[in-house]
Order: sequence, then C-alpha cells, then structure tokens
Amino acid sequence: MCPTERLDAEDGLARAAALLQVGETIAFPTETVYGLGADATDGAAVARIYEAKSRPSFNPLIVHVGSVQAACRLIDLPDPGLRLAEAFWPGPLTLVAPMRPDSGIADLVTAGLPTLAVRVPAHPLASRLIEASGLPLAAPSANPSGRISPTTAAHVLDGLEGRIAAVLDGGACPVGLESTIVHVSPEGTTLLRPGGVPAEEISRITGDLLEDASDEITAPGRLASHYAPASRLRLNAHNSHSDEVMLGFGSTASDLNLSPSGDLREAAANLFAHLRALDRLAAGRMIAVAPIPDAGLGAAINDRLRRAAAPR
Ligand code: TXA
Ligand code: MG
Repeated sequence: MCPTERLDAEDGLARAAALLQVGETIAFPTETVYGLGADATDGAAVARIYEAKSRPSFNPLIVHVGSVQAACRLIDLPDPGLRLAEAFWPGPLTLVAPMRPDSGIADLVTAGLPTLAVRVPAHPLASRLIEASGLPLAAPSANPSGRISPTTAAHVLDGLEGRIAAVLDGGACPVGLESTIVHVSPEGTTLLRPGGVPAEEISRITGDLLEDASDEITAPGRLASHYAPASRLRLNAHNSHSDEVMLGFGSTASDLNLSPSGDLREAAANLFAHLRALDRLAAGRMIAVAPIPDAGLGAAINDRLRRAAAPR
C-alpha cells in the first residue's frame, strides 16, 4: 500500500477533504482522540475503515457532523436527546438514537442496527474538515482494533502507517478520552460508555440513568479486554515492585505521572500517551497503576484502565 500522507493543519485541510470525497480514509484530530474518518454515505469508503483497523465488522461506527440540525437529519432525537445535544454539542458526547429512513448512511456504518451513533465534535480542525468535505464522517478511533486510542498524529502513524491515505496533524487532543456514549429512547436514557462528559453531568439533565442491560456487545469499547498495551497492568497499586514500572497519580512516586496535582482532566488528557510511553519503557515488565478517584472523569479513566488490565 502507499505511504500515508502527513497533512499540516493549515495547508492540508483542502487535501484531506478532497481525499474524503473520493472515498479515502483520513485520520483527523477531535477533542477526544484521533478519528479514522470516511464518507459515511459511501459503503466502500466505510469498508476501508474496517480494513485499516482490522476491526470486527459487527461493531458499528460513530458518525460526525457539524451541527445539531445536521444530526437531526440522521436520527430522531426523542426527549431528552435534544436537550442533551443542546447542552453538550459541540463536545465529547455521542448520542445513539433511531436512524431516520432517509439518512443516506451506508448500512456498514450501523452494522445492521436500527440505531445510529452521532456526535458533533468540538475540535476546530474536525469542524472545518466536516464543512470542507460536505460529508457526514464515520470515524472510529484511529488505532488498530483493540489497541490504545491515539491522541497525537504520531500515535496514529505508529499503528496505521501505510494502511490509511493520510493523517491531518492537529497536535495533541485536549480531552484525551473518547466521548461518553448515551442511548436515548422514550423509555429512558442509558449510559453505554463513560467518557469525556462525566455521567453526573448527563444525569443532571436527564434524571437517573438506566442500567445498561444489553448483554449483546454492540460497542467494542465495552469488550472486557480493550485499549490494551502489550504490558500487563496491575491496578490500584500504592507503589511499584522491583520488576514493574509505575504510572502515578497525585503524589505517588512514579516513572510517569498522569497528574502530579491530582487533576482528573489533566490525567484524562495524558492517559493514552502515558500508557504508550510506559509500554515502551516496561519492555515486557508489568505496569503498576496508582488508584484514581472514581468520580467525574475518573470513572471513564478507571473504565479504560480496567479494560487495559483485563485478561486477554
Ligand atoms: O470520542 C470518540 O467517540 C471517538 C472520536 C473519534 O469521535 N470515536 C470512538 O469511536 O471512540 P470507536 O469506534 O472507537 O467507539 C465507538 C463506540 C463503539 O464502541 C461502537 O460499538 C459504539 O460506539 N456504537 C456505535 N454505534 C452504536 C449503536 N448504534 N449502538 C450502540 N453502540 C454503538
Ligand atoms: Mg476505539
């Protein structure tokens, strides 16, 4: 396959949009993580995403659009979906709702589900790419399936060099964790994946969230083992053993610290990059991880850490 083009934030935008319009896959920055985008209305383009990621094809994709109105052309947003959209878009929230029959979205995007996942990203480069291409963009995180999500263009190339047409470089992603995924229906609101918008902020608008009762795995971010570094992880460690490297939080002694001041937002932004760096440093040893408080963004951080630590 051809080498992957590295596109600059300023000069590369038109090139990236043009590649999307001819059915190529482009990695682009969002405020959460880098996405691997393709025209969501073009089944062959979407197939290239699955191919590049080696992703099991039963896992549906999130469609990225530029506005609440554009989202409402794709899905029916029953109350309180619209209130959530107005409160958190653009931003790190994905809403899953019934897909409209005239959405034009390729079947491969939903993997046959009657619902569609949609979000309006807040990153300026993502917004400009959606606008310049004039397309709804299907985009999973831009990593090989099962590996750590990328928060820089270099991470994208580590996993997908030669497998995608281009990467649009917008520097490091400010949030660093994937979007919160919420299913909205008249029966109630269900948290499918914790993420960049804390669950407490969602329920402030919707009232209590329903338990996610589905045993069908429709979200790979919900597979027990996911986001996995090559090294094994030991969680809630107060210090490291001699044969371990240490990922700290707050005042713990460590090889790398998610946030020396104990700031969960900073920890989220550093999580995936630090896991990658420690994975290299560990060279086969175990990674010990300091306890992270479980409130707010900490719930999403702990969710990712538990999956990274799960037996494979
Ligand atoms: O922050 C994010 O959400 C990033 C950026 C690129 O937007 N994207 C991302 O995509 O994390 P991905 O594919 O790695 O995770 C999307 C999750 C998957 O677990 C997928 O199964 C789930 O969304 N999903 C998509 N459509 C769904 C649907 N109709 N019902 C339930 N889950 C769905
Ligand atoms: Mg992913």
